[in-house]
Amino acid sequence: MSPLTDSNNSDASSALKSGTGDLHRQVEESIDWRANLGDLDAYEQFLAKVSFFLSPADRIIDDYFGRDEGWFQTRRTAVWARSDWMQLVHSRSEEDQGKSLPDPATADELYHWVGGPADAAGILYVLEGSTMGSLFLCNLACSNFESASDAPVKFLRAYGKDTARRWQETKLWLDRFLKTKDEIATAVSAAQKMFQIYGGQLSCKI
Ligand code: HEM
Repeated sequence: MSPLTDSNNSDASSALKSGTGDLHRQVEESIDWRANLGDLDAYEQFLAKVSFFLSPADRIIDDYFGRDEGWFQTRRTAVWARSDWMQLVHSRSEEDQGKSLPDPATADELYHWVGGPADAAGILYVLEGSTMGSLFLCNLACSNFESASDAPVKFLRAYGKDTARRWQETKLWLDRFLKTKDEIATAVSAAQKMFQIYGGQLSCKI
């Protein structure tokens, strides 16, 4: 990595935003959020899907950065969706309690293209950025449930009032971590793939 190719300041976060803006719009618009979050049955399936396809992504982030900095330990992960799912299932009928989630290891194949830390950083960008939209989705979901106070929404609530601050910190980290033009380009391409996985798994056409 040559110092001459070092990036300045917000190069990485700006490139990630501009390189994925169209995909963000497509994912936001083409996933039928009302159907995914319309009632507790749909919400249960949404949590199962999220916990399935995000688990390997979290493991990749953990493998590359888990030991680096403390804030990675407190990230929102698929485990949060899994615990919401379990709480929801256990609060419902006895019949539901025998249910189990699909093995997330079978989602590993979605990430075979990951080859290094810049790919993992691109994935991190999408997962952490999605906490911003998640606050909106949390309100949407709760307004659809009959008893919103009973529905577990740890995953959708993300970091609550700390979400915007954490997002700013994530962008600063990305700007420090992704230094060269090549690293940034790799991360943008990985973020695009992550958006496609997200959209594909939640059934929209992108
Ligand atoms: C209805 C659904 C969604 C809404 C309303 C929404 C809304 C938002 C908003 C308001 C922001 C902050 C923009 C800014 O600070 O300039 C944002 C950022 C972001 N969202 Fe979403 N979002 C949604 C779904 C998603 C999903 C499903 C993903 C991931 C697949 C996602 C990924 C991101 C990313 C990566 C950013 C950071 C953009 C940046 O670089 O500033 N969003 N979203």
